[in-house]
Amino acid sequence: VPSIKYIEFDGTVHEVEVKSGYSLMVAAVQNGIPGIDGECGGKCSCGTCHIYVAPNWQSLTGEPNNMEKKMLELIPSASETSRLACQIEIRNDLEGLEVRMPEYQF
Ligand code: FES
Repeated sequence: VPSIKYIEFDGTVHEVEVKSGYSLMVAAVQNGIPGIDGECGGKCSCGTCHIYVAPNWQSLTGEPNNMEKKMLELIPSASETSRLACQIEIRNDLEGLEVRMPEYQF
């Protein structure tokens, strides 16, 4: 079971074990992790599950698709490492993945 590190804007680390197949957003909400809202339920249409992927993990988490890119363009605090947590599916090879939450969800 992969263990994922969610790091709040203030540096608080939440390390949780997540079964593969769940999205990073669902796993955060189920584990009560603050800083990821997921208002649209994972449909890539609200942008409230914005996270930053640690740069050394970007090759494994991959590139956002066009729909996700369009959503990210609407988020003022988005950067090159930004992703929507509902669009990343947990897999066994993401063991140890680190993501950071923004100061606010938009
Ligand atoms: S949960 Fe709405 S975009 Fe990810």
